[in-house]
Parts: sequence; structure tokens; C-alpha cells
Amino acid sequence: MRLEYSYRTERFGAVRIGPLQKVVEIDSSASDSDAESIHGDSATRTVSRDRLREVERDLVIVVPCMNEPRRVIEGVLAGIPHDCLILLVSNSDRTPVDRYDIELRSLEEFCRLANRPAIAVHQQDPGVGAAMKAAGLPDIVDEIDGGVRRGKGEAMVLAMALAAMTGRRYVGYVDADNYVPGSVHEYCKVYAAGLAIADSPYSMVRIAWDSKPKVRDGKLFFSKRGRTSEVTNDFLNRLLAEYSGFGTDAIVTGNAGEHALSLDLGLRMRMAGGFAVEPFQFVELFEQFGGVLPGAAPIPSEVGVPLLQIGTINPHFHDNKGDEHVQSMRFQALNVLYHSPVCPPGLRTEIMDFMILQGALEPGQEPHRERIYAPVGSLALDRLLGGLESEAHSFRTFGYRMVVTPRTVTPLARDRVHEPTVLA
Ligand code: GDD
Repeated sequence: MRLEYSYRTERFGAVRIGPLQKVVEIDSSASDSDAESIHGDSATRTVSRDRLREVERDLVIVVPCMNEPRRVIEGVLAGIPHDCLILLVSNSDRTPVDRYDIELRSLEEFCRLANRPAIAVHQQDPGVGAAMKAAGLPDIVDEIDGGVRRGKGEAMVLAMALAAMTGRRYVGYVDADNYVPGSVHEYCKVYAAGLAIADSPYSMVRIAWDSKPKVRDGKLFFSKRGRTSEVTNDFLNRLLAEYSGFGTDAIVTGNAGEHALSLDLGLRMRMAGGFAVEPFQFVELFEQFGGVLPGAAPIPSEVGVPLLQIGTINPHFHDNKGDEHVQSMRFQALNVLYHSPVCPPGLRTEIMDFMILQGALEPGQEPHRERIYAPVGSLALDRLLGGLESEAHSFRTFGYRMVVTPRTVTPLARDRVHEPTVLA
């Protein structure tokens, strides 16, 4: 794979936000016999097929799903490169038709035909809730039905914990409502290439899709705008500008549903619930590694936390869930930014003004506090696995044996985080 390359990164402490780099060639000429697995000129980087495969063998691809048509999910599965381990986390209806059972049958058949392993779980299974509770994350459990709470972020927390038990080093997410298997394939290849190039134990790759096709007046229109992302990106960039004193449009992936990261990084990070999950990743990185809050865990500055933003070639063709859904995602992003101790008072006021203007808040009201979950690295994974194997009827492994790796990270003690002392 060949990607555009630039050294011009935006810094927030140890976090290095790369500029948007486009995929130049999905399959480049860099072959396995090349002496360097990653090489390039001043403008591009290529990652060899061997190096891509090496990362893919260490990559878990999570598919969060909720009532997508069977054929769409089957397309997504078929797009995931062979060496990646598939992890399906479902929140689909169990009645009147058990849609999870349909998903399991598709997954099992796919694994049989493609001769590859996979893992699946249903997040509302009370056995899964009990296992998460026993592992040390009772907040994520729904008090009424005993399963993991509904929400995409909640599915991703559960997935992060399962990924940590596979012994692999990276985790990536692809939405299940994607109609183009080729784009899923490209996203996973981009994860592998980005993680290989990042060259840090603490790295993240976020996808900026090229376009979202829509039908307008009977014609296809390839929209460049993401209606949620443009608001989230704008406010995140304003935050960067408050600290640096320079305006910027560096952040282009505030809401990236498609992203991957090293587990060394993921296990240290708190995660937000619902659709606040992706914007909160920026907030959490700034809080933990931005160097503006006292008590944050040190990351050697020569290693840093590279955050690559990669522009893909395929169109992102997915379900359009309407204006209310878009508004709700926007506000969830702003809620987590507003309540972060790294958010300067001036920006808080701008967020409130925007939300009042949009009718999301009454004057004098504060933005809602989203749920924030402790880092998965603080969980007792052995108890989680024990609970899943003994109580979670929905937990299935196809040709895969879970291993619980010892805890290798020390999550930041949150009680050491105080209000920022340095604000622009
Ligand atoms: N397991 C699980 N549990 N999956 C969920 C849940 C849940 O509670 N909620 C949503 N999902 C799955 C959906 O089934 C779908 O595959 C994927 O998450 C995305 O959900 P959508 O509701 O389709 O969101 P979207 O497509 O409008 O938004 C996507 O793109 C945004 C950026 O534009 C999401 O990925 C957002 O997280 C992202 O910010």
C-alpha cells in the first residue's frame, strides 16, 4: 500500500496528529523481496505486503452490529483480510426473531468456508454483564436487564476487553452497516499500513472516508461532508488553537467510526459510551498525554502517541439514519469536550452557545455528562473470561482459543487528575 506522507504534524504534548494523508495506491509495488518493509520518497510511503500481513496477523477487527441485514453483514465479513481475527459484538434484537442467531449462523458458515476463526458475543446477554461486573466494570452493566448497556461505545469497550484476551497487539473497528465490502477491505489494509508506519507502541489510525454517496434527484451525488464530523472537528480544532495560539484544521477524523489502535494504547484509555466514543478518544489522549494536566502517566516524548489520519479511496456507502441521529451524535461529541478538564472556559461558552442555538439546551442548562468507563487495562481479564465461559450463553468462539495475557499496562490513576493549571 502506498500512502501520501508528510512530517508536518500538529502536537498536543506527546500526541502527534498527522495531517490527512491519502491512499495513493491500495496495492503498491513494494514486494516481499524489498529490503525495506517500509520505504518511500519525500512524498509517499509504501508498506510491503509482508509487513501488512505481519500486522494483520496481530489485528483483531471488531464489527459492532445492530439489526443490519444478513447480506450486508456477510459482505463486511468477506471484506476483512484473511489474517485478521473477526470479533462480532451484536446488539441485535433477540425477539420476535432471534437476529443474533441469524448472525451467528452466517459467521459460522463464513468461518467454515474461509477456514478462519472468529469470536462473537451479544452485549445484552446477562452472563456478559455478570462477567464484566466480576472483572471490575460494574458501571457498564444495565441495572434492569443485567446485560451490558446499549450503545456503540459500550460494545466497543466489551470488544476491547475481548481483543485483549486474544493475545493480539492491535484492534480495529468497522461498522456493520457498510454496503461495500471493498471499502471494508481497504480500511483494514489502511489500519495495517498506518500501524506499521506509526512505529510506536502507542499508535492510532483513523479513517477519513473519501465520500458518502447519496441519491439526489435520481442521480448519485458523492458528498464530501460528514454532517456530524464537521461540527466535532471544528470544536476539536478550536481546542488545539486555544493552546497553540494558531488556528488549525488538523483534525479531520473527530467522529471516525473506522479506526484502529495498538492495545498498549487502548488498554490505557478510558472510553465513552454511545456515540461519544470516538470524539472522546481525542479528549482522553489530550488529557492523558497532552502534558497540561498534572499526574498523567509519562510517555517518553521520543516515542509519543502518533495519530494518523488516512483518507481512503472507496466511497463510504452506509445506512442513513436521519437528521435526529446526526444531531444526537454531534451533541454527544460536544458533551464530552465540554466536560473535559482540558476544555478552556472560552471554548465551553462557545459550545454552550452552539447547543442553545441548535435547541439542544435551554439558557442556563449544562450539557449532559456522557458515561465514561475506566480503562480496560484495569480489568481482571481472567475473571472476565471465566465469567464468559461459564455464564454467557451468547459467547461463541469459532476455531479460536482465548488466552488471557497478563496485565502489561498501568492505567492512569484518575484521582490524580485535577483541573488544568495551564489554560490559554
Ligand atoms: N453492538 C452494537 N451496539 N452496535 C451498535 C450499537 C450498539 O448499541 N449502536 C450502533 N451500533 C453499530 C451499528 O449496527 C452500525 O454497524 C455501527 O455501529 C454504526 O452505527 P450507526 O447507528 O449506523 O451510526 P452512523 O453510521 O450514523 O455513524 C457512524 O459513523 C459516525 C461518523 O460519521 C458511527 O460509526 C459513529 O460512531 C461515527 O461517529
